[in-house]
Amino acid sequence: GQAGYRAWLAYHPRVDSATSKEDSLRYGWIASGDRDDTVRAAISELAEGIGAMYSELPEIHVFPTDAAGENGARDPEPDTAIGVGTGILVGTFAANERLRDIFGVEVAELGREGFAIRTREGATAIGAHTPVGALYGAFHLLRLLATGADPSGLEVIERPANKLRMMNQWDNIDGSIERGYAGPSIFYKNDAIDFDPARIRDYARLLASTGINAISINNVNAHRLESRFVTEDYLPRIAELADIFRVYGIRLLLSINFAAPIEVGGLPTADPLDADVKRWWRDRAADIYAAIPDFGGFLVKADSENRPGPFTYGRGHAEGANMLAEALEEHGGLVVWRCFVYNCKQDWRDRKTDRARAAYDHFLPLDGAFHDNVVLQIKNGPMDFQVREPVSPLLGAMERTNQVVEFQITQEYTGQQRHLCYLVPQWKAVLDFETYAKGNASPVKRVVDGSVHDRALGGFAAVSNIGADANWTGHPLAQANLYGYGRLAWNPELSAEAIAEEWALQTFGASRQVTDAVVGMLMDSLDIYESYTAPLGVGWMVNPNHHYGPNVDGYEYDKWGTYHFADRDGVGVDRTVLTGTGYAGQYMGPNAGMYESLAECPDELLLFFHHVPYGHRLKSGRTVIQHIYDTHFDGARRTEELTRRWASLEGLVAADVYDAALARFHEQAEHAKEWRDRINTYFYRKSGVPDEQKRAIY
Ligand code: GCU
Repeated sequence: GQAGYRAWLAYHPRVDSATSKEDSLRYGWIASGDRDDTVRAAISELAEGIGAMYSELPEIHVFPTDAAGENGARDPEPDTAIGVGTGILVGTFAANERLRDIFGVEVAELGREGFAIRTREGATAIGAHTPVGALYGAFHLLRLLATGADPSGLEVIERPANKLRMMNQWDNIDGSIERGYAGPSIFYKNDAIDFDPARIRDYARLLASTGINAISINNVNAHRLESRFVTEDYLPRIAELADIFRVYGIRLLLSINFAAPIEVGGLPTADPLDADVKRWWRDRAADIYAAIPDFGGFLVKADSENRPGPFTYGRGHAEGANMLAEALEEHGGLVVWRCFVYNCKQDWRDRKTDRARAAYDHFLPLDGAFHDNVVLQIKNGPMDFQVREPVSPLLGAMERTNQVVEFQITQEYTGQQRHLCYLVPQWKAVLDFETYAKGNASPVKRVVDGSVHDRALGGFAAVSNIGADANWTGHPLAQANLYGYGRLAWNPELSAEAIAEEWALQTFGASRQVTDAVVGMLMDSLDIYESYTAPLGVGWMVNPNHHYGPNVDGYEYDKWGTYHFADRDGVGVDRTVLTGTGYAGQYMGPNAGMYESLAECPDELLLFFHHVPYGHRLKSGRTVIQHIYDTHFDGARRTEELTRRWASLEGLVAADVYDAALARFHEQAEHAKEWRDRINTYFYRKSGVPDEQKRAIY
């Protein structure tokens, strides 16, 4: 079936509960003086959305340009239909004199991607400087209508907070997706680029509707065939993908293999300072830009988890990144260079090395060394997308370097789209985290939007959670994470709850009962997931490799630098400066002291920063061991409640969506018990401390 395929672009009919009164406007027409593909996409989206929401297809008027039918200097004349009844005027100021009249002088502040919406004299006007601004405006109007806004009084001005709003696909050419939990790739099949253009276009629509403006289409681990994407072998097909995304304002990037000059080009080296290597990359850039004139650039995972990189040649990351940056510079391309660089062959006996320190230790000394078209992509935390980690101390620490924060929408460590885990509250906490990079008004969101250090480039990147499943994300409610990521990248001030409500209203329609239940479940879900999994910021108690399910010692004696050090007396990692790895000292201002101090360190991160006895008393008043027991019993119980909360919606959401989610809630409830009993039993056996409430522990 196609259950959930339309996601938040479902355009349910507007019903009384949405408006409670007759709409004063019933849009009968859509008009524009723009003739380019992007405004056409805006018009067809509006036509579809309005048609479905008001059960009445609007007429479409695209004005003629000049007599010759070319893009002339003359302003188009409004069609006679304009002014009859009510309608929507959409497009760029340059091509629509009426829009200039309606908006007057305020338009300067919109920038390249912003838009204004205003209802006046029977028309709702959507104006922008660029076609993509108009497209964003169209999606915004549709969102307002779908969430129950009265169109008669609209007065909106929006522009994105961040310049780069990127999606990273971890798709492989064999059709698999690294850490993908929603079926195979929509881009590739059987070692070929193989896609349904309509499906790609629908993905582009979903992304553009939330404001995403860039996409890397292959896994950061670029394997043998994907390493050739930068060559004529694949560029024609990739250009077809770029053509689809371009209409929706989305630039295409490729993940590259740093050793491609050897593996693809047949050169003896990939040394970034080698003249032949530089030439090889310049030639690839020329080929790429010949095929894709607005190509976005390269995403690079180098010297990371066994991927090749500049270290092999005794070069640093600035030398590696800058060599690629030079190849792309003249074409306007970017190098997005990931900071996920750490020793993944650590000896677990080695207590000096701390993986959490690695990104900061590697990159901080390089501040100021990167070209202007290089952006560092920094994971939100110092480890790897655990349910709870502190914020990466590298964010904000580099003053003369462009940076984007990287989130993981795909739920690798947060239930793999079988458990409900709405991640927007986690991301909000990261974005609002005060870094003290420049006084005390330097939260992460202001670092990455470029304002703290006055950087021209910055923003967000995230690993996508979609696949070829009909509903895109496997768990129907995991769509909220995809939606929420885009919305936050556009406007990090939106609350997690407001985003959840927008998403629910657009996805399920205007029922208050459904909206309240779904928003409530989403908002509780992260805390529930954290409760029954790894406690107090310690992380990594999962099965190795696939990372699903509890295994307390799964990574304890492994090479990945991921330890909790539980013994009979206590648990946690001493990352203090005084007695531990010194990681706490990487933070700026009061943060360093807060994490260093056992008394000040927030409970939820206690075991990330400190090794404490089981009897250590938390700020909550409970001991660590009792906290572990209580939260695990509580988390498993609340997971069962989730099933009941969802079951209350039977008959109110589409049956196939209902069933798909219900099956997952059952699995989550079973699995949460497994987590509860494994974790509780492990710590009971280690510590010998009984549960105060004498509940079943094995
Ligand atoms: C995690 C994940 C890998 C991924 C890596 C990365 O370690 O498990 O599959 O390749 O992150 O971000 O590069």
